[in-house]
Amino acid sequence: MKVTVSRKAHFNAAHRLYRKDWSDEQNQAVYGKCSNPHYHGHNYELIVHITGDIDPETGYVMDMKILKNLIKIEVEDKMDHKNLNEEVPEFFDKIPTAENIIVVIYDLLKPKLDPSHELSITLYETPRNYVSYSG
Ligand code: NI
Repeated sequence: MKVTVSRKAHFNAAHRLYRKDWSDEQNQAVYGKCSNPHYHGHNYELIVHITGDIDPETGYVMDMKILKNLIKIEVEDKMDHKNLNEEVPEFFDKIPTAENIIVVIYDLLKPKLDPSHELSITLYETPRNYVSYSG
């Protein structure tokens, strides 16, 4: 019997979407406001879903205190109030789109979880734009 438990988290971060090998015009055409050379911020909302069996001893799929702490260490401490392009090594050579951010978050969390648990993540970049990833 598989049950999914979910935890919401939040971080603020700045980014700029651009390719150095493109002209300013091309960057502007593809990335629009997100290509602003002076950066800009988003209030990212993260939802982490863990699916697994209920432990018959604890009645939990996963202790949410552990999940909360894991998200804090692996995501919030690394990304909250940071400039993703300049301060988070994973984005030094990767454009910090929501798509790339969610894959980075997945790869940070997955190795820390019980291998029998499935991980699925949703990341809101704005209230209306969000991405999902399950590996
Ligand atoms: Ni943006």
